[in-house]
Amino acid sequence: MRVDSPTTSVPTDPPAEDLLAAELVRRYGSPLYVYDLARVERAAADLRAALPAEAHLYYSLKANPHPELVRTLRLAGCRPEICSTGELAAALAAGFDGADCLYGGPGKTAGEVREALLAGVRAFSVESPADLRRVGAEARALGVTARCLLRINGTGAGAGVGLRMTGGPSQFGHDITDGLPDLAELTVDGTELSGLHFFPLTNAADPQGLLAEAVASIRTAAALEAHWGLPLRMLDLGGGFACPYAAPGERPRYDGLREPLTAALDEHLPGWRGRLELAFESGRHLVGDSGRLICTVTEVKESRGTTYGVLDSGINHLGGLSGVGRLPTLRAEPLSLARPQPFVGTDHDDAARRVALVGPLCTPADVISRAAEAVPPRPGALLAVPNVGAYGATASLLGFLSRPAPVEVTVRDGRVVGADRLALRREPLPDLDHEHFHDHA
Ligand SMILES: Cc1ncc(COP(=O)(O)O)c(C=O)c1O
Repeated sequence: MRVDSPTTSVPTDPPAEDLLAAELVRRYGSPLYVYDLARVERAAADLRAALPAEAHLYYSLKANPHPELVRTLRLAGCRPEICSTGELAAALAAGFDGADCLYGGPGKTAGEVREALLAGVRAFSVESPADLRRVGAEARALGVTARCLLRINGTGAGAGVGLRMTGGPSQFGHDITDGLPDLAELTVDGTELSGLHFFPLTNAADPQGLLAEAVASIRTAAALEAHWGLPLRMLDLGGGFACPYAAPGERPRYDGLREPLTAALDEHLPGWRGRLELAFESGRHLVGDSGRLICTVTEVKESRGTTYGVLDSGINHLGGLSGVGRLPTLRAEPLSLARPQPFVGTDHDDAARRVALVGPLCTPADVISRAAEAVPPRPGALLAVPNVGAYGATASLLGFLSRPAPVEVTVRDGRVVGADRLALRREPLPDLDHEHFHDHA
């Protein structure tokens, strides 16, 4: 982090979003997430324009299941990609039908599959033959047919970009390095093997690397189609579209992708238009730049040459995975307001020092940013962490230390659309095995 602009002079033109953020803190308290729905719409429009015109774009609810964001993406023409019954409920609450959903992810239980089928979900991405059999058993029991995409763990194009999901040993997908899977093994009552699903990597800012991976997936799809002698009805090429996370930066553009992707499909899967439903998925790219986390410095203390700014928000609200080294350091910046914040470095003694911004949790892992040369903030200062619309609140350690979840406010054109917060609560459970327990006690 760098709290690097000592506000010694009055900023001439404070950004409207900073003024709005300060106003929202007055109305709803701190810390809070602000999501700008117009940004979500722009991201969806940009990405759809970059992909082949025939493609469906699925929104991965894992990035942010907030109902207002999901509703916005429904109205922007996206469909839901879900991996749990909680995400299914969020999709339904946002106005989708079960039939719109693609249900994927490892570790689906029979109960979850049944619940999804009962809600009308028919499209599943299966991670293994056992996953396929589980979906088949539940579909048979309900007298329906599930359309299944086999997720493939291929060799990929080896692009050194983003975070790799498959291409080596992986809990995701069906390995094809030891030969292409046999159709007989994948023929399961209650299911129809309708296509393939690839998601080789994520957060790949380089369009060329992403294109190389997508073309490798298309080639693999063509090889499997020929091997099985079965026309694919759906091909999900995944995504991997990037967005900066908890640091300043612009959402990358993928404007050059449409033509080479279409050409690769034409070359390797001739006649794909009309017979094959083409899909892409994205989470972070669609919602990442819509969100900011606004938090407050509650205390400043010195320790052995470092100034600690203690915030009212930490890895319980943002970047829960940063403490275990899976995320880069986050960055917070002071809001720029019409009047200088009385609490951000205005005095002569506010020379740049080693500053760490930490959260309120009792663990040294609760660090927003560490030891930058910066001007220390003062208690009461409002800070903003940009680009946290994806993998924010719900990807954090929400239950740790039992503090409330952050407020989440959706805005459009500077006006509040809604404000709410998640609640974690303990609920008593009935004893499902009461008799059995007493028999053996
Ligand atoms: C199968 C699948 N789809 C979609 C996503 C969403 O990724 P992103 O938010 O980077 O678009 C992931 C992320 O891990 C994934 O595994």
